[in-house]
Amino acid sequence: MLLVHGFPLDHTMWATQITALARQSRVIAPDLRGFGQSPLAPGDAECGISMEAYADDLAELLDKLDVREPIVLAGFSMGGYVAWQFVRRHVHRLRALVACDTRAAADTEEARLGRLKMSENVADWGSGRVAEIMGPRLFASATMEKKPDVVAAVRAVVERTPPAGIAAAQRGMASRPDVTSLLPTIKVPTLVLVGELDVISPPAEMKEIADAIPAAEYLVIPRAGHMTTMEEPEAVNQALTQFVGLVA
Ligand code: MLT
Repeated sequence: MLLVHGFPLDHTMWATQITALARQSRVIAPDLRGFGQSPLAPGDAECGISMEAYADDLAELLDKLDVREPIVLAGFSMGGYVAWQFVRRHVHRLRALVACDTRAAADTEEARLGRLKMSENVADWGSGRVAEIMGPRLFASATMEKKPDVVAAVRAVVERTPPAGIAAAQRGMASRPDVTSLLPTIKVPTLVLVGELDVISPPAEMKEIADAIPAAEYLVIPRAGHMTTMEEPEAVNQALTQFVGLVA
């Protein structure tokens, strides 16, 4: 099981899933280049890292770990954008797919310009300002009120993410392709999972993704916003362990 985190986060967003899934599978939860403990390569911050490049990094990691059997790949949000490219480029390595709070459409021009603005300014702003900008959109309002520890944990991860990693990923996401036409070609069993109150990758949009993938199951996680894995970890654990049990 390969778990790919979102932006601007690291593998710790999957902490409770790692514990739950490790009872039944080998779990690999890397930090993408520029996040957590994974360094950038020279030029990444200036040129950006494409979703294709992150996907190739994952394939290389599987080679390094000598993983030969097909994997279940779960991608959360930006990790989902990477997962689509993994499907495109490394489908023979895939047993099943989990698309978690993610999107298939490319950005609007306004969103793209917003990403480029952040990538140009984040070195001056610092990662704390990114946490302020993104914070309120990540959670359901009930999570903000009742689970301040979860909100603080996410904020701490964003604050310690290096600005250069944020810049590189934003440039990559700004130029990512629309993958809507890929969806009907996905043949592996797929779970499409979304928080009921996600405003970044809304349920209606994720339902369209599920409808377009032939063997997809669609599951809404009640009460969660975008950060399903941390807001409602038990429900996500149950969905993932059940899905992995079915496809293993
Ligand atoms: C994420 O959670 O990975 C981001 O919100 C994705 C994005 O910025 O599109």
